[in-house]
Amino acid sequence: MAAPLVLGIETSCDETGVGLVRGHELLADAVASSVDEHARFGGVVPEVASRAHLEAMIPTFDRALATAGVRAGQIDAVAVTAGPGLAGALLVGVAAAKAYAFALGKPLYGVNHLAAHVAVDALEHGPLPAPAVALLVSGGHSSLLLVEDVTGQVIPLGATIDDAAGEAYDKVARVLGMPFPGGPPIDRAARDGDPAAIGFPRGKLHDGTLDFSFAGLKTAVARWVEARQAAGEPVPVADVAASFQEAVADVLTRKAVQACQRHDVADLIIGGGVAANSRLRSLAAQRCADAGLRLRVPRPGLCTDNGAMVAALGSELVSRGVPASPLELPADSSLPVTEVVVR
Ligand code: KG4
Ligand code: ZN
Repeated sequence: MAAPLVLGIETSCDETGVGLVRGHELLADAVASSVDEHARFGGVVPEVASRAHLEAMIPTFDRALATAGVRAGQIDAVAVTAGPGLAGALLVGVAAAKAYAFALGKPLYGVNHLAAHVAVDALEHGPLPAPAVALLVSGGHSSLLLVEDVTGQVIPLGATIDDAAGEAYDKVARVLGMPFPGGPPIDRAARDGDPAAIGFPRGKLHDGTLDFSFAGLKTAVARWVEARQAAGEPVPVADVAASFQEAVADVLTRKAVQACQRHDVADLIIGGGVAANSRLRSLAAQRCADAGLRLRVPRPGLCTDNGAMVAALGSELVSRGVPASPLELPADSSLPVTEVVVR
């Protein structure tokens, strides 16, 4: 018998994602992004994102079904990001998921966005190793998690105490006159720069915790650039980008390897939008190889927010026989990472 067909809906930030997964097989991953509408503000505007989700939800759902070549009536379960994320944005996805689950008479799973970022790797690399350490880095979060079991036991090991890694990318890009979101243009500019040109600070690197801090780094880059401009000197954009990127990748990979070693875990999974970063990927590969760790990073399209990751986690929950969420489940903008499924 074929594995159940699971629908996944993601609306926690600026991507409206609808994914369809059967077992570990990805059938469709339709994403509509409102990122262009936020660009002129230099960051995601919650009200604009919510409105965009509302407009994109049904067309994106239809597109996913058409890509997968299935009818709505064939869906066996519905999973949706219930949190954490922007409250108004989450509400759109949760309301849509409830409507689909109710209309189809199928179980509804309100799931944790961070656990979904981990679960998605099963679509590319097969069943998740357990236990694993997960490094999740995006515009909204920077966390290290001990994942004993992605369907229920996720333990936070460390997180940023100020800016998220992606947020630092976005703010530094602004300082360098690059568009939002800042990750891709900085990544590109850094290719022509010297990562050792400027010794930017590595926040909390030697403090003994598994927490991060990127606010000091961001400020250091801004001060450095301002000083050049005030002196009437040209700003070496490629060197600044490469040196900033090196500082971020250095701290993230060192602490991720430390997390694995401290908890005696041999597998590291990296996810979230910043996992698309070329330097983070190459440095993580090098340091994991040196430390004898196995590294799994999904392809960039599955690292950024999408519906397939929610469907992937839903599929895992269904296959383990985990009970569904109540139909009146709330959206919870600050859902703790330890809560994989909303009860
Ligand atoms: O996971 P995601 O799509 O949405 C959030 O949940 O935030 O991550 C978006 C973040 C943005 O801050 C963006 O600048 C960053 O991921 N990002 C990158 C790269 N591509 C996207 N950061 C560094 N290098 C990249 N290549
Ligand atoms: Zn995310």
